[in-house]
Amino acid sequence: TIIYVISICVGYIFGCFPTGFIVGKAYHVDIRNQGSGNIGSTNALRTLGKKAGLLTFAGDLLKAIIPIVAFGMIANDGHVYGQMLTLCTGLGVVIGHNFPVTLGFKGGKGIACMSAVILTFDLRITLIALIVFILTVVITRYVSLGSLLISLVLPLGVLVFYPSSIHMLFVSLIFTVFAFIKHQANIKRLLNGTENKIGHKKA
Ligand code: G3P
Repeated sequence: TIIYVISICVGYIFGCFPTGFIVGKAYHVDIRNQGSGNIGSTNALRTLGKKAGLLTFAGDLLKAIIPIVAFGMIANDGHVYGQMLTLCTGLGVVIGHNFPVTLGFKGGKGIACMSAVILTFDLRITLIALIVFILTVVITRYVSLGSLLISLVLPLGVLVFYPSSIHMLFVSLIFTVFAFIKHQANIKRLLNGTENKIGHKKA
């Protein structure tokens, strides 16, 4: 178990890299005072444009993929740790992104990082998550709803494809809990119909 604790700590350090905040600085704004106030790629896209959104998304994906792949290669002898290590490193990244020491512990919502975890964890679950997300956003235009659904696809996917691993199910459920905790304001807006729609210009 010590290896998992270390992987969470290593992930946390990478997760603290505040991509959206830095991209915002390049545009001479504090993204935390813009739009939804979130440092994620959805808000970067909303307030700074496509290029900023894409850069933020790519940075937040990479800061998860790099430690997951690197740490996995260093620590993984055969398949002893494997996917559990991916989940734990990724969990550390999400915690670092959501509660970064670099921004006074006020970070983002961790969805791009969680997507990177799903991508490195299992391609079948990735495909399902991608389809669910795209359909949700195309039909409803709510990115937050798509994000919340992806966070449910992960533990459901673990349940279906790894039915005997109670540990992986437990860790994957923590991602879901974090996603819902971080989207509380979005959930309220979704319920009363005032959530921002992507690509929807305010009159
Ligand atoms: O990943 C964040 C997304 O689900 C919602 O972002 O800026 O609309 O709160 P935002």
